[in-house]
Amino acid sequence: MSIAGVVPAAGRGERLGPGEPKALRLLAGRPLLVYAVRALSVAQLIDIIVVAAPPDRVPAVRALLCAADLGARASAEVHVVSGGMTRQLSVRAALDHVPDEVDAVLVHDAARPLAPSELVDAVARAVRGGLPAVVPGLPVSDTVKRVGADGVVTDTVDRATLRAVQTPQGFRRDVLYAAHQRAAEQSGGPPVTDDAGLVERLGVPVHVIPGSEEAFKVTTPLDVTFAEALLAVRRGADVC
Ligand code: C5P
Repeated sequence: MSIAGVVPAAGRGERLGPGEPKALRLLAGRPLLVYAVRALSVAQLIDIIVVAAPPDRVPAVRALLCAADLGARASAEVHVVSGGMTRQLSVRAALDHVPDEVDAVLVHDAARPLAPSELVDAVARAVRGGLPAVVPGLPVSDTVKRVGADGVVTDTVDRATLRAVQTPQGFRRDVLYAAHQRAAEQSGGPPVTDDAGLVERLGVPVHVIPGSEEAFKVTTPLDVTFAEALLAVRRGADVC
């Protein structure tokens, strides 16, 4: 089975404050995107990677990834295309570039730079094993409440039934393409913030496998501090 990795990396990252697009912000001297692509390229089961870059940065991102150290075992080809106005459009732009022979696709946010390559392979193995859609998820440790527009709590959600879902998310190619096709035809409704959300609308079962605390999303300046601390621990342990 041939598996592609798709990396939406075209977001501005406004919650990180003013500066470069989020995927190009530095973590211990290297752009977030380099870590995210490296996680896919070091994984054993990914054959090709397509990055959706900020539209005004496509040549720069291509040059960056050509020059980057993507791991000694890296064997996946890396392609860079122009991303879109939303995450969904960026994923779609990258999917349009995935070669016909690919059977499955893993979508991995550039904003989750430290996802371990073992997690990438676990998702890829689950899809290769026959599941149509697979997401990594972690139990939720906070108590979660639904709140009305007036700021008053309406109810408390049973957290035992909740999972905080991460990327990479893996899909059979035909399932992911059908989900994006349907989404493009039916705009409107509440925003869908991940690809599994689009697949759920098709009625296709989405399976959850154990996620990784290291696959957290870099959204705020505090997340950058956490990520740099984790990198320091990994470097101390000689793992990058
Ligand atoms: O904004 P958020 O952190 O949810 O973005 C998740 C991922 O989607 C990021 O890697 C970001 O670069 C990507 N994205 C994109 N195109 C957009 C908006 C977000 O590729 N227009």
